Amino acid sequence: MCVAARECGTSDYLLVVKHLETLSPEELAELAAQRQATKEERREQKQAQAANKAAALASPYSVVIDCAFGELMVRFCSCTRPLPSAPAMTSLTAQGTGENKSLMQQFAICYASNARAAVPARLCFTGLGGDLAERYDRYSGTDKWPVVRSGGSYLDVFAERRQSLVYLTADSPHELAELRADDVYIIGGIVDRNKHKGVTLKKAEQEGIRHARLPLQANMRLTGSAVLTVNQVLDILLAWLELRDWRAACERAVPPRKRAAEGEAERLGRKARRSGKSAAAAAAGREADVPAPQEDDDDGEEEEEAAEQDAE
Ligand SMILES: C[S@@+](CC[C@H](N)C(=O)[O-])C[C@H]1O[C@@H](n2cnc3c(N)ncnc32)[C@H](O)[C@@H]1O
Repeated sequence: MCVAARECGTSDYLLVVKHLETLSPEELAELAAQRQATKEERREQKQAQAANKAAALASPYSVVIDCAFGELMVRFCSCTRPLPSAPAMTSLTAQGTGENKSLMQQFAICYASNARAAVPARLCFTGLGGDLAERYDRYSGTDKWPVVRSGGSYLDVFAERRQSLVYLTADSPHELAELRADDVYIIGGIVDRNKHKGVTLKKAEQEGIRHARLPLQANMRLTGSAVLTVNQVLDILLAWLELRDWRAACERAVPPRKRAAEGEAERLGRKARRSGKSAAAAAAGREADVPAPQEDDDDGEEEEEAAEQDAE
């Protein structure tokens, strides 16, 4: 049986042959050329994907996604309160499972963004264990992702480069100035609706590693919280690697729903001036109207829900 017959089934094949018989030699030649062009396009796409995979693993820029927050996403083991009743326990477990599902979806978005990026990063998933690791293994295609995967901590994976580690956290008092090839940037792999405020800052401080927040407020006016989802943070890093400019990177990667509209920005600026704040401070969003990350009250919850919808 010829290839075409195998591809479309014998009866469909006969229909195609009948149709072909009605075509002029010019139309047949055009069809053959189109088929050839499609084949070449597919081959080029495959080559580009393979090249991007290799580029990602060889990238001088490392981004870690720290997956070691499993117990926070089902938080009832380590607390001092008595264990919840059986139904409450079931509901907590379901909640944790939902958060892991959402996190896995964010990982898939991260992988896809990195695969498409003009300057990809070397992605490392560390602390991957428990339910999340099982989900990761079950997720279609993860075995072929060009990433580093470890059940251990980034402290072990980068044991020789401890000084290079920078934990990214919205709660850090330090603002990230640039991305450096010799530093390793860590994103907290956690979906918590910011219930665990400051957990990554605390972790970085306890481990004695550097920390920094993204320069969001200095580059755009946000509608609320500066706490972003894992994939949004990676998108900003990837955009910066390409554009080398935070404002342009934020413009590209911060979702429009997080940004205050023009009129809103002016209104907030006027309000800040009336309350005695300087316009510059208002524009930088560092004062009253744009809450500091640790004081916000939408807590990234809306973002995480939106990210779940984006992923579905
Ligand atoms: C949904 S947030 C988790 C919030 C969590 N309560 C915490 O304390 O980090 C996911 C991760 O994205 C990173 N992240 C989110 N917003 C950030 C920002 N504005 N600057 C730096 N990193 C940020 C942090 O690494 C954070 O752990």
